[in-house]
Amino acid sequence: MKLAYVQMNCEFGEIEKNLKKASDMMSAYNADLFVLPELFNSGYVFTSHEEVRGLAETIPAGQTCQILVDLAKKKKCYIAAGLAEKNGDECYNSAVLVGPQGMCLHYQKTHLFSDEKKWFKPGTTGFGVFDIGSCKIGLMVCFDWIFPESARTLALFGADIICHPTNLVMPYCQKAMTTRTLENGVFAVTANRIGTENRGGTELTFTGGSQIVDPRGTVLIHAAYGSEEIGVVEIDPLRARDKIIAQKNDLFGDRRPAMYYRDSN
Ligand code: ACM
Repeated sequence: MKLAYVQMNCEFGEIEKNLKKASDMMSAYNADLFVLPELFNSGYVFTSHEEVRGLAETIPAGQTCQILVDLAKKKKCYIAAGLAEKNGDECYNSAVLVGPQGMCLHYQKTHLFSDEKKWFKPGTTGFGVFDIGSCKIGLMVCFDWIFPESARTLALFGADIICHPTNLVMPYCQKAMTTRTLENGVFAVTANRIGTENRGGTELTFTGGSQIVDPRGTVLIHAAYGSEEIGVVEIDPLRARDKIIAQKNDLFGDRRPAMYYRDSN
């Protein structure tokens, strides 16, 4: 199975341009699963609720989901991507997994980062996985990485591969994901953005360094920090079913949940 991250810059508010760029970049590559960045179609630094609502789309009826589904059908592949979701009166920082059969998974970011709390509601979908036949795929979004519960929950639900769309601005995540994959025995594809957005007095630079990590925490491929690029690597997803980390240790079998939740939240 071929996994790919799509590391790209995005132009704020230019949904059609960003969709075309992502689609053009992917057209030059073959992979079974492409992962695009968080909010890849809209950009990240919002300045008002009206702006968020104007750029957010319904899932799955909105144009971004529809175009991603068309692309997945044409390329006979799966695509995971982050986008702003409009759902009734609320907006969410969401991600989808689409495939040749259409919409597969819908996830609303659980742990919002910084000013995202101004623009989005904390997600209520919870974490989920989708069985594509050869393996199970899960979704989490950017800052979810700092809460080990995110990857753990996905792994306990059976995820073999975690798709991780990001707009990273701090330097810690890539290294941390080698531990998230090791402690859960899963693959992770972190697809980050590059470029700078300077809007409404806030300037953020997105740090690139997208990567694909295997179930023993080895970085199989990584991107540069400042260029648009796609990285593809061939893996055997079933390696994620082997949770034996040492002769007498099973990552999941040795867990002792009764010890974790006593007198704590
Ligand atoms: C982030 O969650 N976009 C840092």
